[in-house]
Amino acid sequence: MISALENSTTSDEKPSAMISDFDTLIPRRGSGCIKYDRRPELDPFWVADMDFASAPAILEALHRRVDHGIFGYAHAHEGLNEAIHDYLRDRRGASVAAEHIVHLGGLVPALSLAARAFCKNGEALMTCTPVYPPFLGVHHDATAVSLITVDHVWDGCGWTFDWEAMEQAITPATRVFLLCNPQNPLGKVYSKSEVERLATFCERHDLMLVSDEIHCDLIFDETATPHFSALNLPERFAPRTITLLSPSKTWNIAGLGYAYAVITDDSPRRRFCAARGHTLSEINALSYYAAEAAYRHGEPWRRELMAYLRENRDTLVEIIGSRCPGMSIRTGEATYLAWIDARGLGVDNPALHFEKKAGLFLSDGAYFGWPGFIRFNFGCPRARMMEGLGKMIDAL
Ligand SMILES: Cc1ncc(COP(=O)(O)O)c(C=O)c1O
Repeated sequence: MISALENSTTSDEKPSAMISDFDTLIPRRGSGCIKYDRRPELDPFWVADMDFASAPAILEALHRRVDHGIFGYAHAHEGLNEAIHDYLRDRRGASVAAEHIVHLGGLVPALSLAARAFCKNGEALMTCTPVYPPFLGVHHDATAVSLITVDHVWDGCGWTFDWEAMEQAITPATRVFLLCNPQNPLGKVYSKSEVERLATFCERHDLMLVSDEIHCDLIFDETATPHFSALNLPERFAPRTITLLSPSKTWNIAGLGYAYAVITDDSPRRRFCAARGHTLSEINALSYYAAEAAYRHGEPWRRELMAYLRENRDTLVEIIGSRCPGMSIRTGEATYLAWIDARGLGVDNPALHFEKKAGLFLSDGAYFGWPGFIRFNFGCPRARMMEGLGKMIDAL
């Protein structure tokens, strides 16, 4: 049994044959998932997980680990550390030592740790809206820390920062900037020059830059919109940069709970780790092996996934544009999450409107800081997406 586990860490192991069936609907109701079981009476297109089985190589790694039969406290084994190292080198263009990595049971706790580690009483944290809701809540985990938000703007070609508004909104007490890149829910991939300009903004105002890059392997066209990780910033920014990553969104293993922070400078890493105290549990033993398999063997499956999601995205954009009066959408560059402007419907709460009229469970834009918008998760078999869109059209 031990040797089966050891096998899972060898780098020359061949992945199993790809299945790549994204069309078959796998029933999830009653499986204890929040997506379907929180509101069983509704058809869910809300929370950011996909209705696809994870890559076969990940399932195999999990089976092997389960067959071992013992689930005592775990740590990041050598195979995972190697897989992360190789992934960061090959996919993110960064050479990172194992001691610069802080393993975590999820990425949201890292946002909270950053707020608690770097903001004290009376200080503030800044982010740009709309944004993944925990960005708007983690300041409450720190004592008397406030939140400054600035809206993204459409510059005619894409979403971007409103630099002028950010300069006006920032205060001397602001300590942290939370970046979401690629952006959830806008599906925006920030360019190298935007990330560099943001880092310079953080330097000028003495802020920590916390970059959540959980969606960085879900970019539709990596040539047109390459991901520029905060790991690629010039060395002088290292003491103020924290990069947060996880294979969980791309390979649909979020429920296993695993993420990691890369903090190459000792001083912020010590502060970040000290903020953990006794507030975080040990990390799930299975999650380490799933993460290793995703990074080592998941690339062919990921490519097929992106091709499938791209077609879903294009179909959805076409349908919203042509058959949904009062609604509009910009084509996202990344993620399986569509950000839809529903202000033209003339209803106060479009998500609630579609819940009542169509039985759909969508994400309400108000939670992201922009009421009047909805977020639609198209990480599902196409037939299911079409059924959901059909219900939406019928309700209009
Ligand atoms: C930008 C972003 N960060 C973090 C998370 C959640 O991370 P975790 O489940 O590891 O806490 C999500 C989930 O949708 C997300 O979109």
